[in-house]
Amino acid sequence: MAIERTFSIIKPNAVAKNVIGSIFKIIEESGLKIVATKKIQMTKAQAEGFYAVHSERPFFGTLCDFMCSGPCVVSVLEGENAIAKYREIMGATNPADAAEGTIRKLYADDIEANAVHGSDAPETAAVEISYFFNALELVG
Ligand code: TYD
Repeated sequence: MAIERTFSIIKPNAVAKNVIGSIFKIIEESGLKIVATKKIQMTKAQAEGFYAVHSERPFFGTLCDFMCSGPCVVSVLEGENAIAKYREIMGATNPADAAEGTIRKLYADDIEANAVHGSDAPETAAVEISYFFNALELVG
């Protein structure tokens, strides 16, 4: 398996819980490396652009309001099978279904405020990384 990159967001509810370091610890202990990271506060327009694929879904409006309700931590993670590995340690979208020990089981409040985002495919990872980072910020 080749080395892959994925995109992560620690969402506003998890940042508010002061668990950035705890989530980074889970990420690093899984073998993934943080190759770029920064704390940002998205505007509504930036959140709507990021979640554009969900624009027709009923939860789109409240999701975008939530995503710009406070600071987030955006990161690029690198490692073998990084996309699938990160989704595994994140846990299921709905924390009620998330496995023990996963980030969402530990830190999600509900299906919307579910603590973290991770890319779901190489194509979306590339788009999401370039939405928040330029090439000079990616330090392998
Ligand atoms: P999705 O891509 O289905 O999940 P994942 O984040 O696990 O890839 O959904 C994107 C985000 O949309 C999800 O993290 C939280 C939000 N969401 C809701 O608020 N309500 C819902 O019913 C669903 C399915 C998602």
